[in-house]
Amino acid sequence: MNEQDQELYELRKRHLTHTANHYYKEPLHLVKASGTRVWDSNGKEYLDAICGIVSISVGHNHPKVKQALIERFNNDGIQHPSILYQNEPTIKLAQRLAEYSPPGLNRVFFSNSGSEANEYAVMAARNITGEELVISLKHGYHGGTLLTTTLCGHSTWKFRGQPLAGVVHATPPYYYRNATEGQSAEDYARQCARELEETILTTSRGKIAGMIIEPIMGVGGFIDAHPVFLQEAYRICKKYGGMYISDEVQTGIGRTGEGFFAAPAMGVTPDMITMAKSLGNGAPIGAVVMTDEISEALAGKLHFNTFGGDPYQTLQALVCLDIIEEDNLMANISEMGEFLQERLNALKEKHQLVGDVRGRGLMWGLELVRDRQTKEHAGSETIAVMEAARERGLLIGKGGLHGNVIRFSPPYTISREECERIVEVLDQSLAAVAAVPVSV
Ligand SMILES: Cc1ncc(COP(=O)(O)O)c(C=O)c1O
Repeated sequence: MNEQDQELYELRKRHLTHTANHYYKEPLHLVKASGTRVWDSNGKEYLDAICGIVSISVGHNHPKVKQALIERFNNDGIQHPSILYQNEPTIKLAQRLAEYSPPGLNRVFFSNSGSEANEYAVMAARNITGEELVISLKHGYHGGTLLTTTLCGHSTWKFRGQPLAGVVHATPPYYYRNATEGQSAEDYARQCARELEETILTTSRGKIAGMIIEPIMGVGGFIDAHPVFLQEAYRICKKYGGMYISDEVQTGIGRTGEGFFAAPAMGVTPDMITMAKSLGNGAPIGAVVMTDEISEALAGKLHFNTFGGDPYQTLQALVCLDIIEEDNLMANISEMGEFLQERLNALKEKHQLVGDVRGRGLMWGLELVRDRQTKEHAGSETIAVMEAARERGLLIGKGGLHGNVIRFSPPYTISREECERIVEVLDQSLAAVAAVPVSV
């Protein structure tokens, strides 16, 4: 670490809270970004395959985004007016999001984050049903606010004295760890759905406010649901009177390559879809799309947040949607996704550490295990692979309840050569970690 970074690190340790963890033994000070690349304070270049936390869609500092924002600033475009006033980008973005959503999901609430979007969706589900109980999944992640940490199925995000009422956690569709040998993915999906129904029958009075489910559980380690699981979950949700919320904070805005939102592409029309991350390409914006009926049920109440729908953030999101269309980025996501799938599965053949490869589009996870039979979580090895990749100029992330899943989610603009580079560095990093046993 250079002297200035060391000084900054000392300040960080003194002034940021104790919950502000960082990646890497020595924190990485990123100072510049363009397209798929970022640079640290020493001028070293990295291929950014994780994008903060899955939050860059059209590439860092895209020229069209910069131009639109600079123009608005140069024209003294107003920045503050909450939804209490009228402003064009906010309303136009709501219209666009309704167009991308399944028919009937016409109404949009804007927030500053995915957590607040989920807060709103659960509040709306409880309001329209008059029920309190929400079903979420073990290993799920839904945000850092009081309610959303309760929704999370991870001890990492549970704090002392935190109320845990009003939510129960059901079995996730974690095929790699929990299916029996030889069980088909569809059969396992149906088994999880039966367990989901049993959870409702054993923990509720037979009525629920709703369910909140990620089509691919992001923080949980890119655990990808089988479409049959989602379809069954939706059917069960309706059977017990609930509102189905698809948390697409990670999967939304085309990330999985199969559709603008993942759940509809998997045969489910949710009552509400929440989104953030790729929507703003780095800008702090979240949203919920919902039916007229859900929105109407809230009429007479007032709910907004000061900066939700800010014209600069919504403008940035609008320009990103234009870029996704104009540059046909959905096609690139699918094409690069197929390429990565093939190459990552080949890596699994080569490296014993890789127990499972899963994902879709530009959302990929490699679950690392010490032993393929026992599936012992390889948490320290995962950290070592991240360090080795950093040294080689590649930024990746990690996830999973036991921190043993390598995750990566590059910008939609990634090229085939860059995908090859990701696989090459992963290959080298896995080999380097296997060669030097990591102390556990
Ligand atoms: C699936 C999912 N939902 C909700 C959130 C919370 O979003 P935010 O951090 O913007 O509040 C996250 C963040 O990682 C997420 O992955």
